[in-house]
Amino acid sequence: MFQKPKEICHYSSDLENIITDVDIKNFAKNTQREIEQIIAGLGLKLRRAELKDHFAINQLLFERFHPNTASQISFYDSYRAIKHGYTVVLEDTQQKIVGYDYSLGYDDDDKTSFGLNIAISPSWAGHKLQTLVSTYTSLIGMERGSRIRRGILHPSNYISLHNLLNNTGFLCEQFFPHLPGFESSRFILSFGLTPAEMMNNRVNLDKVKHFINEKKVGEDFYLVECDNEEEIDYIYKNSSFRVVAFLQQGKISDKNQLFAIPYEQMNFPDSSLEFLQIG
Ligand SMILES: CC(C)(COP(=O)(O)OP(=O)(O)OC[C@H]1O[C@@H](n2cnc3c(N)ncnc32)[C@H](O)[C@@H]1OP(=O)(O)O)[C@@H](O)C(=O)NCCC(=O)NCCS
Repeated sequence: MFQKPKEICHYSSDLENIITDVDIKNFAKNTQREIEQIIAGLGLKLRRAELKDHFAINQLLFERFHPNTASQISFYDSYRAIKHGYTVVLEDTQQKIVGYDYSLGYDDDDKTSFGLNIAISPSWAGHKLQTLVSTYTSLIGMERGSRIRRGILHPSNYISLHNLLNNTGFLCEQFFPHLPGFESSRFILSFGLTPAEMMNNRVNLDKVKHFINEKKVGEDFYLVECDNEEEIDYIYKNSSFRVVAFLQQGKISDKNQLFAIPYEQMNFPDSSLEFLQIG
């Protein structure tokens, strides 16, 4: 299993028994229905995006992201992710788009399911919508046979670090100190698309606190500040520590920190360890 240590996660051994294609598809479908109901209970509709939604999604994209990042999603990307992927939107009772997740699958060896870009309107903050929606699109990928879910994330996007690493189950498999066009750094996030590799990778911060108190820094775990990109880059190039959780300033930690574990303990697939270089 491609998995963070049990000692820091919410863990249910039952999930490890869901292994046949039929059971995995049923799990994915049932969990999608549960998420649709939670979101309906908030007064929103979660539905598949259509091409007519492009301009409303684009407006929210430019409201929520720095122009360098927003401009990385062209109409052509949007077209492919809507028409041939499984992009979803959140619609309020006035049919206004208040959230979206550009999401699509690829035909590489992992059949990667990629979360291209997600945003939620600030008027709907505090309802865990990023966690719910990114889990939902990952489940569509699982249902379609994708084996790994991937996405990208800036190391100082604190709310997303918490939602995606701690609450959704991602870990940071790669780090790019500079992505052309974005003009800034990004982690590549991933988790395995089986029920156990997804749900058992969700972080329990009380367990992390205990782990930090009991184990050896520099050997069992490592802590690095989110805004120390030089050190993050050094760790990714010169050690096997990989970021698996986010520690928010004022809770557990006195700074916004990234918590890392050696990848040998997490059964990283070869594709997560590939040396990637731009240029
Ligand atoms: C990031 C974004 C999608 C999150 O939207 P959201 O689903 O409304 O997020 P929520 O308000 O529900 O997140 C709430 C969680 O964040 C936590 N949080 C809030 N402020 C935080 C902070 N400064 N640091 C860490 N965690 C924080 C809350 O404690 C809460 O955690 P809990 O659910 O475990 O209790 C949204 O803010 C957005 O669109 N931002 C701009 C675009 C962007 O960054 N997209 C993501 C790129 S990967």
